[in-house]
Amino acid sequence: MSEIKNDYLWWQTGVVYQIYPRSFQDSNGDGIGDLQGILKRLDYLQWLGVDAVWISPIYPSPMADFGYDISDYIGIHPLFGSLDDFDRLIQEVHARKMKLILDLVPNHTSDQHPWFLESRSSRDNPKRDWYIWKNPRPDGGPPNNWLSVFGGSGWEWDEKTEQYYYHAFLKEQPDLNWRHPEVQQAMLNVMRFWLDRGVDGFRIDVMWHMIKDLQLRDNPVNPDYQNHMATYEQLLPVYSTDQPEVHEIVQKMRKLLDSYSDRMMIGEIYLPIQKLVTYYGIDGKGAHLPFNFQLISLPWEAKVIAAAIDQYEGALPANGWPNWVLGNHDQPRITSRVGIQQARVAAMLLLTLRGTPTIYYGDEIGMRDVPIPFQEVQDPQGLNMPDKNLSRDPARTPMQWDASLQAGFTEGKPWLRLDRAFQRTNVQLQKEDPYSMLLLYKRLIDLRHIEPSLTVGDYTPVCSDNQMLAFTRHAEGHPKFLIILNLSHRPCYFKPSTLTFTGTVVMATSPELEGSVVDENISLSGDEGVIIRITDTGL
Ligand code: GLC
Repeated sequence: MSEIKNDYLWWQTGVVYQIYPRSFQDSNGDGIGDLQGILKRLDYLQWLGVDAVWISPIYPSPMADFGYDISDYIGIHPLFGSLDDFDRLIQEVHARKMKLILDLVPNHTSDQHPWFLESRSSRDNPKRDWYIWKNPRPDGGPPNNWLSVFGGSGWEWDEKTEQYYYHAFLKEQPDLNWRHPEVQQAMLNVMRFWLDRGVDGFRIDVMWHMIKDLQLRDNPVNPDYQNHMATYEQLLPVYSTDQPEVHEIVQKMRKLLDSYSDRMMIGEIYLPIQKLVTYYGIDGKGAHLPFNFQLISLPWEAKVIAAAIDQYEGALPANGWPNWVLGNHDQPRITSRVGIQQARVAAMLLLTLRGTPTIYYGDEIGMRDVPIPFQEVQDPQGLNMPDKNLSRDPARTPMQWDASLQAGFTEGKPWLRLDRAFQRTNVQLQKEDPYSMLLLYKRLIDLRHIEPSLTVGDYTPVCSDNQMLAFTRHAEGHPKFLIILNLSHRPCYFKPSTLTFTGTVVMATSPELEGSVVDENISLSGDEGVIIRITDTGL
């Protein structure tokens, strides 16, 4: 490890790994993953080389949205274990020199949270204004046209107190009123509780939703809506999300984090780049890492991806640290989007770009979206819009550890069915196979850690065309790397018009290429990527 990296923080040099706790490892045979299970697999994560683990919500919850509907922010759901298990987990994570990031869901609570139970009990309850309550329109309809992300209206009528409350997601997930100072204080206290327990950071759920237009104006119709899209997309959520005042909230959270040493905050934000980068905050006092979902959202085409990388690099504020994500628990897996061979190229892209990479559990073994029979669908997004194939279950199936019964995930019946091919695709087999996705991931992570140019070096685009893209990474005083990725299935040529150089292939998606000495005339197979250490250069 070179000195240059001492100038950077752990969340800049590190690789983040997302665990969806229901599906990672079960320890008690109930078919649902838990904290003891995660503990059991920490050595695996350390072997893989990841530096930080982000765990999706583990708090008490009625599980209407699988933990993103929290009924107690400072406890652990008995399904996952206890606070003692949690303390043990944090200790063991730290003992392995890794960090632990918790998921915080401040935009909404469960409708079973005591705050909401109080709030809905009467119009003059002191917590009434902790949520967003409004009178009906004169015709009795909801206060405005806002829609729920999970289908239908964003407003729910409360018979007892005769007002509507707003919920951006399920009606079981009422939105908090973040304009209320007591709500702000309550959530900052929640953050304190976990920070005091040693948590290294938070991933803030739907950060861009947290404040709504004061006048609650109607959202405009989306002129580009098409029938296959989620019903939510019928409107442009210009008044229900991304309001200017949200930045004051983010700033307050940041201030709290800064009062502890070495903590960080990731923001979940689905917005265009120019908007996304505002979440770094004025003078960088916002989110440390506003999640950059371009590799998830954009078509997998070389020119599009190349332009997006440059657009992002160009839009970053001074000192804003980049980050990249290929998948998460809300999106189809990368293998199912681009194919298993191309997913290897995607892994190489994720782990050679400048900025913190986040890996979704299972992607490192090339897990794919698992077909879940209609009658087994559990995700509310899938259930509420059954004709749109929007269920997120396929990307949330149990981790495939080995070829034993239930893939080593559980001794019981898994809560969601396993990929039927798990006997061919699992950690144990891939650990022994030099051509496996797992070893590709591990070697990419190792190389990224060893080479300062790949950890923190500059990014410079070299060229791109309809098939391939190429860029260099370089840290002053260290070897420079050229990365060439063929995003198509057909062979392609890298033949930049003006460059001359020689170099050595240090890693390739086809290990056969490794060690070969190359110059500027390179041809790649379909779905191939190479990392070249430049030895002599016009680059
Ligand atoms: C975020 C989570 C998603 C959840 C939603 C509502 O987008 O990632 O899983 O359903 O917020 O909390």
